[in-house]
Amino acid sequence: MENFSIAIDGPAGSGKSTVAKIISEKLGIIYVDTGAMYRAVALFCIRNGIETTDEVAVTAILPKIKIRIALENGLQKIFLEDEDVTGKIRTQEVGQGASDVGLILAVREKLVEIQRELAKGTSVIMDGRDIGTNVLTNARVKIYLNASVEERAKRRFGELESNGINADLDEVRKQIIFRDENDMSREHNPLKKADDAIEVDTTNMDIDEVVSEIIKTKEKKLLEARK
Ligand code: DC
Repeated sequence: MENFSIAIDGPAGSGKSTVAKIISEKLGIIYVDTGAMYRAVALFCIRNGIETTDEVAVTAILPKIKIRIALENGLQKIFLEDEDVTGKIRTQEVGQGASDVGLILAVREKLVEIQRELAKGTSVIMDGRDIGTNVLTNARVKIYLNASVEERAKRRFGELESNGINADLDEVRKQIIFRDENDMSREHNPLKKADDAIEVDTTNMDIDEVVSEIIKTKEKKLLEARK
């Protein structure tokens, strides 16, 4: 089968990783979660007492950050050196730190290189903030997932709770608004819909509906490409 890639972008809590995982399984293609890479950089900085907003310090430590991605049963695991940090990066603190380090050009350049390497010569579904606009500009299918702030806050709150993390809905809402602002207004590859992306508002959709909408789009695009 010919290779094709699916790029999924959108703000925090829009449902990207949930649907991307399901689609990767259904289509038998690799799922690459790029947010996890920014989170791993943030976790390393936090552990080493480096402010995630300190561009000079983060850039200086960057060569020491050894990120490794492994696939286990089709799912992405992320390592710092030999330590599996897949579960440890899922806190609000690390999420905000990831948004901070995402402002730094040197961080973006390092991670985008890893991301493009993972997509080389194979079909992938990759989610993030700049996939359709920068990382995989040639992706066959580009989706921009969106949802209202209220709905996204509720989803993130539920996720944190189910991971056993105590959270406050108001606080989660504030963090989502702050993170949107950070991700959309940054200088380098901000979050925005690619001109050729299809926007899907998931506020009133369940996961199955979003998955089938994306798969339909993919099939349409493949048919168009064969014409
Ligand atoms: O998708 P996520 O919530 O795990 O991402 C965490 C942060 O990482 C996000 O707020 C901004 C940053 N990020 C980025 O700048 N570019 C990407 N492609 C993915 C994530």
